[in-house]
Amino acid sequence: MSSTTASGSLAGRVALVTGAASGIGRAAALAYAAAGASVMVADVDVAGGDETVALIGEDGGQAAFLRTDVSQERDVAALVAETLARFGRLDCAFNNAGIEGRKTAYLDFPLDEFDRIFAINTRGVWICMQHEIPAMLRSGGGAIVNNASIAGLRGAADLPAYSASKHAVVGMTRSVAKNQARNNIRVNAVCPGIIDTPMMDRIVAEVFTREAATVMQPIGRMGAPAEVAAAVVWLSSDAASLVTGIAMPVDGGATG
Ligand SMILES: NC(=O)c1ccc[n+]([C@@H]2O[C@H](COP(=O)([O-])OP(=O)(O)OC[C@H]3O[C@@H](n4cnc5c(N)ncnc54)[C@H](O)[C@@H]3O)[C@@H](O)[C@H]2O)c1
Repeated sequence: MSSTTASGSLAGRVALVTGAASGIGRAAALAYAAAGASVMVADVDVAGGDETVALIGEDGGQAAFLRTDVSQERDVAALVAETLARFGRLDCAFNNAGIEGRKTAYLDFPLDEFDRIFAINTRGVWICMQHEIPAMLRSGGGAIVNNASIAGLRGAADLPAYSASKHAVVGMTRSVAKNQARNNIRVNAVCPGIIDTPMMDRIVAEVFTREAATVMQPIGRMGAPAEVAAAVVWLSSDAASLVTGIAMPVDGGATG
């Protein structure tokens, strides 16, 4: 373990990240490790998950991977059990796994696609929280960050089911935060704007141009995954001890 790792804001803590094989989830896994946490990496993408673990190892951090589909309760139960078996506790969780779904005109939107988006983006976050909270209570508390979106704060015209699924993530976050406040478990959401990831590459290809995406953020550029990860680590740390139940835009001013 490097000296940076040993002295970070999350030294000695254990963090779990879903959807950590790519994009924002991978950046958050790396940032948690750089802040001193041991990291449980979860994703349906085995090759990408293994690569995230290798990247953390190269930086001198501790990590392990378990293939996990967040829409399957038995996978999530196994993930939390594996985290406790390997690292002994669970302090921080970033429930990040999500899909954008197919672009389809609103009136033609297929119900099975609506259900698929909700199964992963909304129900997946719910299942994760239900299994993470009892594990956190064993060590006296913890911090959960759910990944919503600015599409969870404003309607996204071309992604109606995605937008609805992310509004639901914000609603669950606010409700569970109040429910768990006296248990020393803080629950917050991040609402990223336009972040340069493989998902954004797919959205740009289908829904709008890269230039239009950039213009949506007053800062005049896309965000980097590491800029969202920095907010996630801060919300997970003791520096945010009074912060719970918020939906924090990380969006270069788009919703300001
Ligand atoms: N990129 C953006 O601009 C942006 C903006 C706002 C919110 N978000 C949200 O951030 C999160 C991460 O997005 P990203 O841009 O890094 O996308 P990404 O596609 O690069 O990464 C998403 C990861 O989630 C994994 N995943 C998908 N379904 C899963 C499942 N059922 N179980 C476990 N893992 C699963 C994928 O394999 C992938 O590794 C998503 O929830 C997304 O909605 C992204």
